[in-house]
Amino acid sequence: VRRLTVPQIRNRKGGDPIVSLTSYHAHTAAIVDRYADFILVGDSLGMVMHGMESTVGVPMDLMIMHGKAVVRGTKKALIVVDMPFGTYEESPNVAFRNAATVMKETGCGAVKLEGGARMAETIHFLVERGIPVMAHTGLTPQSSHVMGGFKTQGRDEATWDAHRADARAVAEAGAFAVVLEGMVEPLAAQITKEVAIPTIGIGASADCDGQILVLEDMLGLNPWTPKFVKVYGQLGPMIEDSVKRYAEDVKARAFPTEDEVYR
Ligand code: KIV
Ligand code: NA
Repeated sequence: VRRLTVPQIRNRKGGDPIVSLTSYHAHTAAIVDRYADFILVGDSLGMVMHGMESTVGVPMDLMIMHGKAVVRGTKKALIVVDMPFGTYEESPNVAFRNAATVMKETGCGAVKLEGGARMAETIHFLVERGIPVMAHTGLTPQSSHVMGGFKTQGRDEATWDAHRADARAVAEAGAFAVVLEGMVEPLAAQITKEVAIPTIGIGASADCDGQILVLEDMLGLNPWTPKFVKVYGQLGPMIEDSVKRYAEDVKARAFPTEDEVYR
């Protein structure tokens, strides 16, 4: 089976909604692969998998390690890997070198980076040289220190023009899609109408051309659920129950039984 391609995702603008989730591991990615058009190896893995307080501390080798695992575990979806903080903002040259390393080492099909108009030159530079870029505007977690936390964008209508200009700039620079994160619904809907590339919403709008969620969030593995997450499974309680019963069995010498030993 051939993987979905970047042009196939781009051509879904205004068409069938694009399905996406994050994955960090081969085993969960293999399940997601049966349903998602693209899978994002998000730098949220720093917080979700490694207990960091933000994504700012995520190193590139961690993205490469998880990116490799997800590429190995999948065959159908386009795999997009996040460029972590500090690996692309400085200049188009630095961004190209690091994005090329991520693509070569992981075998992913595209990278994602945060930022609007300020990243347009870099996006153009990468795309011209063979690296497909997914953009990410609105709430950009790597800038949380500047923004003073994770704040929903566009609550003040005076900021809308700047957000619209950001999305237009990345589209015109050659991004094949743009994640709209954490912005008021009518702004996300308006941007979706205005830009020529698919918008992928998270905490955005049902009008977006696609949706993405962090897998662990929608599986109920996150002790705190943000408003924009719909919880489709309760894996946290399920894991807790399994671990608890195992601990009880071990203490009671009820495990292993005849079935689980070699004679
Ligand atoms: O890192 C991530 O998981 C992301 C998605 C939330 C879009 O960037
Ligand atoms: Na991210």
